[in-house]
Amino acid sequence: MKLLVTGGAGFIGSAVVRLAVARGHSVVNLDVLTYAACLDNVAQVSNSPLYAFEEADIRDRAALDRIFAEHAPDAVMHLAAESHVDRSIDGPGDFVETNITGTYNMLEAARAHWVGRGRPESFRFHHISTDEVFGSLPMDPQVKFTEATPYDPRSPYSASKAASDHLVRAWHETYGLPVVLTNCSNNYGPYHFPEKLVPVVILNALAGKELPIYGAGENIRDWLYVEDHADALLCVLERGAPGRSYNIGGENERTNLDLVRMICGLMDEIRPKASGTYVDQIAFVADRPGHDARYAIDPTRIRDELGWRPSVTVEEGLRRTVEWYLDNEDWWRPLQARHGVGERLGTDTKTMSGAR
Ligand SMILES: NC(=O)c1ccc[n+]([C@@H]2O[C@H](COP(=O)([O-])OP(=O)(O)OC[C@H]3O[C@@H](n4cnc5c(N)ncnc54)[C@H](O)[C@@H]3O)[C@@H](O)[C@H]2O)c1
Repeated sequence: MKLLVTGGAGFIGSAVVRLAVARGHSVVNLDVLTYAACLDNVAQVSNSPLYAFEEADIRDRAALDRIFAEHAPDAVMHLAAESHVDRSIDGPGDFVETNITGTYNMLEAARAHWVGRGRPESFRFHHISTDEVFGSLPMDPQVKFTEATPYDPRSPYSASKAASDHLVRAWHETYGLPVVLTNCSNNYGPYHFPEKLVPVVILNALAGKELPIYGAGENIRDWLYVEDHADALLCVLERGAPGRSYNIGGENERTNLDLVRMICGLMDEIRPKASGTYVDQIAFVADRPGHDARYAIDPTRIRDELGWRPSVTVEEGLRRTVEWYLDNEDWWRPLQARHGVGERLGTDTKTMSGAR
């Protein structure tokens, strides 16, 4: 299959690109290379005859039309997005433009391509979204997000993703575009940009810096290893029913504090400090405004209908992740110099930044 993957120089998109090429798919990676992108993420496949790169902005419809015409993909996997909640608090404009208008452009370019090819039923527009569109769950472990949970986004990031999900469903209902959607929980793993919790904890631990925990660290997330997510996405692309959405989770709920303690335990074992434990570096900092209490995925649909389950526990996935960061300083060190990395973002809700 020839896949057009947007956002393939980012964290999850690059895992999809690497896996798809390894499985023999042709991949066109469309990415504008924002601060969050790194082409080293796809270095393993960049010389493959199955791989092509297009530097383009999903806000640029003419560029999208050219890329569809030139590459004639059989399917689209749309991951390009602004993805950092804290940055969305400081500058929501980019999130509206890329996540909503950009998705609209992708849908229209894909629809023109699909119509031009005689509306093949086999075509897919796979929209990759987040569980954050469902809002915040109570702490009751029986209550989880299903595909029928009403949308209740509470940050500029999740609101922009929710809007894009609605557009994708509308393009299916109105125009018949064969779409599939996935809503996934928090990912972690290799190539995670060093502004997100897991890499921040590993890299600050190594540098002897504070390990910042928002609020009391009681917020619960359902952690999924990124390579399992990429595998689930290819599974949904190949076997999911048009018009249907699938929740993807790791079946690994942890509080942020527990997760950070687990990382500290692994670091103590693999790269012990001269004295003491990395846990001593934990520091509680001001909470994120509107911080959702709990996310948890009910994975029944993807498990029962498509037979998919995550392959690693959070213990095993975190071990692989810690080892990967310890072995790949050449990858993460230059990224720490990028704008905003290492700074506390998203706390000043009184500033009228409007955009950047
Ligand atoms: N990270 C998570 O835990 C998680 C969980 C569920 C869903 N998702 C979704 O998965 C997708 C990928 O997330 P990620 O964590 O890999 O994000 P990321 O920030 O690491 O990567 C996003 C990529 O999109 C590109 N991009 C951004 N704006 C663009 C534009 N206007 N045109 C073209 N390319 C653009 C960036 O350059 C970057 O390479 C997003 O849609 C996100 O909402 C993420």
